[in-house]
Amino acid sequence: MQKEVFSKQLDLSALLHDVSNAFEGASLIVNQIIDGAYGRSLEEIRPFLIALLQTNKRGVDLIESRRVYEELGVVSVTEFDVLDILQKNYSQFKPIAQYYSLNLHYQTQVSYKHGTQVRGDSISIDRMLCNIITNAIKYTLTGDIFVRLLNQGDDLIIEIEDTGIGIAAEQLSNIFIPFWRAPQSRVSDKPGRGIGLYIASMVAYAHGLTMRVDSVVTQGTKFTIIFPYKDGEMYGVDGRMLPKSPKQVGSRRSFV
Ligand SMILES: Nc1ncnc2c1ncn2[C@@H]1O[C@H](COP(=O)(O)OP(=O)(O)O)[C@@H](O)[C@H]1O
Ligand SMILES: [Mg+2]
Repeated sequence: MQKEVFSKQLDLSALLHDVSNAFEGASLIVNQIIDGAYGRSLEEIRPFLIALLQTNKRGVDLIESRRVYEELGVVSVTEFDVLDILQKNYSQFKPIAQYYSLNLHYQTQVSYKHGTQVRGDSISIDRMLCNIITNAIKYTLTGDIFVRLLNQGDDLIIEIEDTGIGIAAEQLSNIFIPFWRAPQSRVSDKPGRGIGLYIASMVAYAHGLTMRVDSVVTQGTKFTIIFPYKDGEMYGVDGRMLPKSPKQVGSRRSFV
């Protein structure tokens, strides 16, 4: 019972975390537009208005999907193109990265061995990616962030790599624990509640994905999300349902 109350509270904290991140992102883009950072003509600012609209929509979709879940007890599982989600993330985060003088790059292949269609909860997959990209921006002081979609063998892989502060080897196993933050994050001026990677790991688990983290202190961090290929099947979940009780997924340090 106690455990159920905790997980419900954590779930709500996670939702509020992501909704407030979406609206903070939107405010940042609005401020940039007002400051004239992208230009003054409608032509110049149109892409940023679109990014703003999408960022707002993310906040609304998060609330709406939670309402449907509360009222009907179902998570919507659909088939969607992961390239579309990455493209949207790129256009939404590009102005935010620019605000912090960082370069966000988006790298894709010309074609994919088994396509880029995924079955799952697209809003959750978006939450997973947003949290990892937000971290990449937050924990990188100067340099680049790369978002990639590629094949490794038959698997479909998303990589989010930064040139930021990195995570110490002895701390890597903690990063998915709710409310955990590295000591340097707690003392730095980077606000956070230590919940984003917990959300990301839960989404990965529910979709049967593997998440790998490679990090070197002061050099950067790379998150690799693997959609395993299942003979003749679509990437993502098999059926129409997501598993009910997710468990923690681990992390490991490796060098590339
Ligand atoms: N890309 C990254 N580079 C360096 N450290 C990171 C990165 N992503 C996450 N971390 C570390 O993992 C911790 C947990 O991340 P997260 O759950 O998103 O919480 P938050 O960002 O709110 O602190 C962060 O506080 C930070 O110490
Ligand atoms: Mg975070």
